[in-house]
Amino acid sequence: MDSTATLYVVGNINVDLIMGTLDSWPQRGTEVMLNHSELRPGGSAGNCALALEAMKVRHRAVANQGDDGLSAWLASHFPHSAEHWKRYRCETSLTVGVTHSDHERSFLSNLGHIVRLTAADVLDQLPLRATEGDIVLLCGTFLCLHLYDEYPQLLSELQQRGYLTAVDTGWPPQGWTETVREQCARWLPLCDWLLLNEVETLGLVGQDDLATCAQQLTQQLSGRGGCVVKCGAQGAGCWQADQQISQLARPVTVVDTIGAGDSFNAGFLTALLHQQDITTALQWGIAVASLAISTLPRRYPDWHQLQLSAQER
Ligand SMILES: Nc1ncnc2c1ncn2[C@@H]1O[C@H](COP(=O)(O)OP(=O)(O)OP(=O)(O)O)[C@@H](O)[C@H]1O
Ligand SMILES: [Mg+2]
Repeated sequence: MDSTATLYVVGNINVDLIMGTLDSWPQRGTEVMLNHSELRPGGSAGNCALALEAMKVRHRAVANQGDDGLSAWLASHFPHSAEHWKRYRCETSLTVGVTHSDHERSFLSNLGHIVRLTAADVLDQLPLRATEGDIVLLCGTFLCLHLYDEYPQLLSELQQRGYLTAVDTGWPPQGWTETVREQCARWLPLCDWLLLNEVETLGLVGQDDLATCAQQLTQQLSGRGGCVVKCGAQGAGCWQADQQISQLARPVTVVDTIGAGDSFNAGFLTALLHQQDITTALQWGIAVASLAISTLPRRYPDWHQLQLSAQER
């Protein structure tokens, strides 16, 4: 399927070190040996870009990098994008994920390079004029501290350059405070597609009915897209001014849900890039996420499987 449009994925690309299994937190000053570890690229933008790379979707990962021993390793996973990343004199952003036998996980993250990414770094990596249909996805909103301060100016400039804009905020580490809500209200009118999960949707609005919250957010957006809510095993829904569409996910045997929402974003926005309708976009989002979370090593659908995912329903 041909499209000349590009999906630009902007935000947090970091190193994930997953280690387990740990069941009781170590006593201070002791050492514990764990039986499993895995080093891999991660972060919302990183997970989404890896899915797009595997699916051979026309895309670019727009980010920055640190300058320690991990930065070249991280960059090597994004061969067509990393040459454009600005290098900062700082450590690479790293998340250590500790797995527990009840499937819970605990995460420890440093600040690293992602907090230093600026709007200027992003805009320097994007064409001055968008090609028809180009989409810019901003993710890891509340972790990219510097960039987050510049969201209103950044989104406004993206609109002026002719890009469609999408935002997946993720969860704010400080919680959904009134300040966070007020800050979001400043850039929501410049956002075309808002991609959240269920609890983020409730948190951003501060009410407990999902449909009410999604409708309210839809009204705050630009009106050119809609509010997409990812609902885990339940699938996903999309709210627009004049319609609401939901699609169920099929049950799968989950191996690892890390990046489920980011993989969904890759499928959903790939469909929009190729002028598919909303129902198909939800189906592609679910198809990419379902396969990603149920395979080890992780796999993503090819074009043929994506078409089938829509026909099988
Ligand atoms: N347990 C599950 N069974 C089947 N599908 C799932 C399950 N969990 C997630 N998915 C699929 O992944 C998609 C996105 O997952 P989810 O709604 O959990 O997003 P998220 O909370 O943003 O994820 P993340 O943990 O990556 O932030 C869902 O719409 C669904 O298609
Ligand atoms: Mg998410």
